[in-house]
Amino acid sequence: MTAARMPRPGRAADLTVEVAPYPRASVGDVIVEVHAAAFTPGELDWEPTYVDRAGRDRSPAIPARDVSGVVVELGFGTNPSDLRIGDRVLGMIDRYRDGAAAEFVAVEGRDLALVPDGIDHVQAASLPMSGLTAWQGLVVHGGLAAGQRVLIHGAGGAVGTLAVQLARNAGAEVIGTGRARDRQAVLDAGASSFLDLAEGALESLSGSMDLVFDMIGGEVLARSIELIAPGGTLVSIAAPPPAQPADGRAVYFIVEPNRDQLTELANLLATGAIRLPEATVHPLTEAPKAFADKENGVPGKFVLQHKP
Ligand SMILES: NC(=O)c1ccc[n+]([C@@H]2O[C@H](COP(=O)([O-])OP(=O)(O)OC[C@H]3O[C@@H](n4cnc5c(N)ncnc54)[C@H](OP(=O)(O)O)[C@@H]3O)[C@@H](O)[C@H]2O)c1
Repeated sequence: MTAARMPRPGRAADLTVEVAPYPRASVGDVIVEVHAAAFTPGELDWEPTYVDRAGRDRSPAIPARDVSGVVVELGFGTNPSDLRIGDRVLGMIDRYRDGAAAEFVAVEGRDLALVPDGIDHVQAASLPMSGLTAWQGLVVHGGLAAGQRVLIHGAGGAVGTLAVQLARNAGAEVIGTGRARDRQAVLDAGASSFLDLAEGALESLSGSMDLVFDMIGGEVLARSIELIAPGGTLVSIAAPPPAQPADGRAVYFIVEPNRDQLTELANLLATGAIRLPEATVHPLTEAPKAFADKENGVPGKFVLQHKP
């Protein structure tokens, strides 16, 4: 099969589109014929992209953890009343396994959800990692509740756009931050106000946020600690927080596959309760360009479309 592979941790310039072995279905796996795949910034130099859970090298590695496609094979131990050959599925692939920048991928069946009618593969591939990260950050780790004041850093990005909508739908008051160019999109997604981080106005929010969800890290994350209201929570995904708030807690987490949450997210997408930001779509053969553009700061989600 055709796949984009990395010989070792590195940058998009090292990514090669080449012939790779057809994947083997382990116990509980299904083989998915990939129609579309998506990736997240940083995947190419994460250690888990290149090793298994025991730390054994499995390079050359195939990136792109988001998949949408059709089930073509059921491995031993998969429940045939659960997933069937021909099902349209979406999912986030475990980070210690090969990803979906390939014509076929082996995925744990329990990590996949059905793609609802009316949702195409490009939309479906844009959802899993961004949606699950937004959900787990807000609901599982952040304790999101109606009436809270929620600050979302990087609100115009892939995770941020979905986080703004989920928080607004839950009845929170949402403030988004990011670059000036994202202001209107973040307000359209449901934020009640937007702060351009280049203007440095965060201090005005000191001690007033029930929940801060940070996608940026660095100085933005460090400055967020003092924004937490008593009993509030700071959740970060780009880097661990450098300290704990005086009266509250700060959590860093790594997103996990979860079928129930993904099914709920897919249904929200299908009913129009959430929408995805516009994605830039490339064929699989242009994977190196897609990864390089993201690496070079081109904004937005990138999707690889393997089949029209
Ligand atoms: N821990 C986890 O499980 C997990 C899961 C998913 C993602 N992540 C990580 O979380 C981060 C966000 O992911 P994503 O997919 O949402 O990425 P994304 O689509 O690139 O969104 C990040 C957003 O933050 C903005 N931003 C970054 N630095 C900024 C700064 N200094 N000032 C103002 N705005 C800034 C970006 O703008 P520009 O595009 O202009 O820079 C973009 O709008 C990435 O580092 C990703 O690797 C972690």
